[in-house]
Amino acid sequence: MSIRVLHTIAELRAALAGQPVVGFVPTMGNLHQGHLDLVRIARPRSSVVVASIFVNRLQFGPNEDFDRYPRTMEADVAVLSSAGCDLVFAPDERELYPQPQGYKVHPPAELADILEGHFRPGFFVGVATVVHKLFNIVQPHLAVFGQKDYQQLMIIRNMVQQMALPIEIIAGPTTRAEDGLALSSRNGYLSAQERAEAPQLHALLQRMGQRVREEGVQAIPAIEAEAMTALAARGWKPDYLTIRRRTDLQAPTDPQEPLVALAAAKLGTTRLIDNLEI
Ligand code: PAF
Repeated sequence: MSIRVLHTIAELRAALAGQPVVGFVPTMGNLHQGHLDLVRIARPRSSVVVASIFVNRLQFGPNEDFDRYPRTMEADVAVLSSAGCDLVFAPDERELYPQPQGYKVHPPAELADILEGHFRPGFFVGVATVVHKLFNIVQPHLAVFGQKDYQQLMIIRNMVQQMALPIEIIAGPTTRAEDGLALSSRNGYLSAQERAEAPQLHALLQRMGQRVREEGVQAIPAIEAEAMTALAARGWKPDYLTIRRRTDLQAPTDPQEPLVALAAAKLGTTRLIDNLEI
């Protein structure tokens, strides 16, 4: 079937009626190959694939890039169609938030106030609220989220589990450019010089992982501190470069537990995030 773009909840619900397996990929648009890879994961598992495009004001801080976040609807619909998406749900703010959103989903502080949540206060309240609302609207059987947003994926998984939402959450591996840079809509903000520098974030995560494997978990504080210094010396403004437990993103204590290295840093005015399971 050819792709359809729907702007209202009523139209979407009518289009989804009777579908046995609804697959869902929530996005904020300005799509790249990474998003299309998420659609391709949903496609063979679903009778219908829905992608949403909605730049969610609730998850942007007052000094963040809500106003300049790229809106590229026509191009997004074209690439979604080529990836096998059936329906695009593209509500405007009046449709999704007809009144100020007074009821919000507050993820637990131990998960939502660390790392991204520490540097972007309220971010995960905005994400969890819109994702919960989109889940109520789309009522998907499965939903695919990129592993690049590692903490977001964990919070959504926990929300679905604790709220007993009947939705399978599937992680999509991070799609990278050939030089290792994780694909992100925000990469478009980088100048040519910054774009050439940007893969250093991934390279540094790889080196951190290698050092932990060689030197053990007791070396983590030194590895993190040296990584922060190394990135700052290249002109970045790092928020965090850290090694955490994969299970709850807390500092590791046991040498055997599976780990993940996570990073967020500003290059010029562009804030990039990345992670690597080690
Ligand atoms: O990852 C994103 O693009 C957004 O946080 C999401 C999940 C679409 C919610 O607005």
